[in-house]
Amino acid sequence: MDGICGTIVADCVLCNVTLDRQVGPVSLQRSDLAVIAAPVYGGKMAPMAKERMKHIVADSTPCVLIAVYGNRAFENALSDMAEFVSDLGFVPVAAGAFVGEHSYSRPDTPIAVGRPDRADIDEAFGFGKAVGEALKSGGLRPVDVAALHDEPSPEESLANFRAFVKVYSEGQKVNPVRLVPLVDPKLCSGCGKCASVCPADAVSDDCSSSDPAKCIKCCACVKGCPSGARSLSSPFAPVLSANFGRRKSPQWTVG
Ligand SMILES: Cc1cc2nc3c(=O)[nH]c(=O)nc-3n(C[C@H](O)[C@H](O)[C@H](O)COP(=O)(O)O)c2cc1C
Repeated sequence: MDGICGTIVADCVLCNVTLDRQVGPVSLQRSDLAVIAAPVYGGKMAPMAKERMKHIVADSTPCVLIAVYGNRAFENALSDMAEFVSDLGFVPVAAGAFVGEHSYSRPDTPIAVGRPDRADIDEAFGFGKAVGEALKSGGLRPVDVAALHDEPSPEESLANFRAFVKVYSEGQKVNPVRLVPLVDPKLCSGCGKCASVCPADAVSDDCSSSDPAKCIKCCACVKGCPSGARSLSSPFAPVLSANFGRRKSPQWTVG
C-alpha cells in the first residue's frame, strides 16, 4: 500500500480497517482518488473487508483497486471488488493483483513465503508511478478489471486442488469441522498480542482460545504470536503448498 500510494501523491491519508471495526462516515468527492486494497478469500473480496468498508460514500470518485492473494489465484476478486465499490459510488480507474504470503503458510507447508518481496515492491512502485502519471496528465479513465487474468497454474495442480476441494466440501456436509488456531499452553505467555492483532475479535483476552463463530482463519494471531504458541493446521495448507509453489507475478492495469 505504501509503495503504491506514496508514489501516486505525497499527501495520502491511510485508513486501515483491519482492526478498526469499519470506516465511516467517510465521504469522498469526485476530485479525490481512493486506493482500496483487500485480501482475496475463495477467489473473491474477503467478506469482512466489505463489511468494514460498506459505509464509505463516494461521488463518482476514481479509485484504484488492489487484490492481495496467496499465490493460488485471485479469480473473480477484482470483478467482485469493482462491483462492490461501484455500488458505493466509486469508479475503478486502475487495478492490480499482488501476492502476499498465504495465511495458511507454515514452515512445513510454505506458500508464497516472503511475499511481497523486493520484486513485488518494485512492481508496486511501477504501478503507483503509472497511476500518478495518468492522474497528472488528466488521463485516468474507467478500467475493465476483467481484463486482468490469473497467470495459469499447471493443469495437474488445478486438478489436484479441485479434487481436494470436492472431497473436503463433501466431508464438511456430512461432518462439519470449525477450524480455529490451537494454543500450546507451554509456550503461551498470555501477553495478549494475538488478541490485539485479531481483526475479528475472536481471541479471548487471556489468549487461551478462539471463538469458532468469529474466527475468519486469517492467521494474524498465529503469525503475530511472539512465542510461536499458536498454530492453525488447515487441511488446505499441504495441497496449496504442493501445487502452487510456482511464483506468480503482480498484474496491473491503468485505465
Ligand atoms: C479463508 C481464506 C481464503 C483464501 N482464499 C484465497 C484464494 O482464493 N486464493 C489465494 O491465492 N489466496 C487465498 N487466501 C490467502 C490470502 O489471500 C493471502 O494470504 C493474503 O495475503 C491475506 O492477506 P492478509 O495477510 O492481509 O490477511 C485465502 C486465505 C484465507 C484465510
